[in-house]
Amino acid sequence: MNQLELIRALPKAELHVHIEGTFEPELMFEIAQRNQIAIPYQSVEDVRQAYNFHNLQSFLDIYYAGANVLIHEQDFYDLAWAYFEKCAEDYVVHTEMFFDPQTHTDRGIAFEVVINGLQRACDDALEKLGISSRLIMCFLRHLSEEAAFETLAQALPFKEQIIAVGLDSSEMGHPPSKFERVFAKARELGFLIVAHAGEEGPAQYVWEALDLLKVNRIDHGVRSEEDAQLMQRLIAEKMPLTVCPLSNLKLRVVDNMAQHNIRRLLQQGVHVTVNSDDPSYFGGYMNDNFIAITEALDLSNAELKQLAMNSFEASFMPETEKQKWKLQIQNLS
Ligand code: HPA
Ligand code: ZN
Repeated sequence: MNQLELIRALPKAELHVHIEGTFEPELMFEIAQRNQIAIPYQSVEDVRQAYNFHNLQSFLDIYYAGANVLIHEQDFYDLAWAYFEKCAEDYVVHTEMFFDPQTHTDRGIAFEVVINGLQRACDDALEKLGISSRLIMCFLRHLSEEAAFETLAQALPFKEQIIAVGLDSSEMGHPPSKFERVFAKARELGFLIVAHAGEEGPAQYVWEALDLLKVNRIDHGVRSEEDAQLMQRLIAEKMPLTVCPLSNLKLRVVDNMAQHNIRRLLQQGVHVTVNSDDPSYFGGYMNDNFIAITEALDLSNAELKQLAMNSFEASFMPETEKQKWKLQIQNLS
């Protein structure tokens, strides 16, 4: 099998995808129309033209604007279902999806409208596509600690449907330490913990995510390489980094894909995985990310298999399920 065939044949788990970041312009137009919400674009082409961001904040401004058309439970269902169809095409058999409740509750959309729509799509994905999934609720870090506490309280009736709590949005100036107490509460309540750190922010934020938030995984974390001691810690603890190559390229975390450090991280023994982050905005879903790094960094088949293995190992799936998929990967030639 050549690399491209192997990428397609590998079962994969996606551990870093924002469901609001899978919103394709075609669906955005359709939902805007049926909800009679004006959007500042004339056409699908117009929307794509607007995606000329060059850092995290300029992306987030457009990403939050796009989410404004989501009003009804069915809208959230349609959004997630469209993503599951992409998963099926890419042989993503398990996905742990972020959602940002505050993006919606701050517009007057009830928490339950959001989670019920997403959950129904998750249930259908298992039944109709054989894709398993979990939901991860993220706090927006540009908002206050108090707002995060309120969101955590709103999530409690849905605790069984949320596997973990995460931290996303504008990283610079909003270190993990700002949310130490609310994450302590979330841990106490039994949630697993993840956090975006070391995407645009410094290695110091990764230390804080480990020491103060006590994360089970780091989202992005690519700037960890700047700190040798941190690298040792990540390797020793087998701490997963959910890396998002096309996102890093689009938001200029790296200048070109040949400079991406995912292969170096892998070779040094860091537990890296491949993910799409906000695929509608960053130019590709799971396999596009695999293909982009394979072409730029000449990954071997053994490395591709290791990345897919890592995705299951780092997932929050039951151990028996993990073993099943890892065996299938081992058996691929
Ligand atoms: N980083 C931080 N926040 C986000 C991202 C990201 O890549 N995507 C959606 N929210
Ligand atoms: Zn992200």
